[in-house]
Amino acid sequence: MVRLVKRSPEFVEGYKEFCREFYDNNITCFRPTDPEYIDDTWFERTKDRYDKKEQGLNGESRSYHYWAVDGDKFIGEFQLKLDLTEKVLTDTGSIGIAVRVPEWGKGYGTGILRQGLAVAKGFGMDKVIYNVNEENTRSRKLAEKCGGVYIDSIEVSNEAEGKHIKRRYCIAL
Ligand SMILES: CC(C)(COP(=O)(O)OP(=O)(O)OC[C@H]1O[C@@H](n2cnc3c(N)ncnc32)[C@H](O)[C@@H]1OP(=O)(O)O)[C@@H](O)C(=O)NCCC(=O)NCCS
Repeated sequence: MVRLVKRSPEFVEGYKEFCREFYDNNITCFRPTDPEYIDDTWFERTKDRYDKKEQGLNGESRSYHYWAVDGDKFIGEFQLKLDLTEKVLTDTGSIGIAVRVPEWGKGYGTGILRQGLAVAKGFGMDKVIYNVNEENTRSRKLAEKCGGVYIDSIEVSNEAEGKHIKRRYCIAL
């Protein structure tokens, strides 16, 4: 069964494979770390940056990164932003989910989102905003399956996806 864990050195190799699969399959709707940067020192090198994100010390919403594993197998990741900043509301949303490409369609996305919502509730949140690229059918279905209520569609322009339409969903907790 899939479970969320804090980032840890134990799963760095699996994380690197997950990143490589996204790059090799040329998936642009979600861009993880460039696998070329992930070497033996990567976890320690980046730890301080991730710690600061949790405290909101980078000037943005407090942001938590979890890894999803099934036994000792790396499956995906879940990102949670605690604050409803302008950027969260009009671009990133409060949550982000990704499953390694060969594992799509096996129920892992649903499992990660359900556990992620429980984590969000544990932080005292009463709702999350889930923004999905209109063309990302799997993600749309995932949002609707897990209680997402459609708010509206907005035009967004960012580095990863360029100019595109995002459907905004609210999931009450
Ligand atoms: C979106 C994503 C997380 C879904 O993960 P997943 O493990 O495939 O999700 P699930 O297997 O739980 O499927 C969820 C729903 O997607 C839909 N789905 C699954 N396979 C599908 C397919 N081949 N075609 C269309 N829809 C599909 C189904 O409605 C499914 O629910 P159901 O099985 O109850 O009908 C995954 O595709 C992914 O990592 N995509 C890239 C990153 C991304 O786009 N993240 C979202 C934005 S942050």
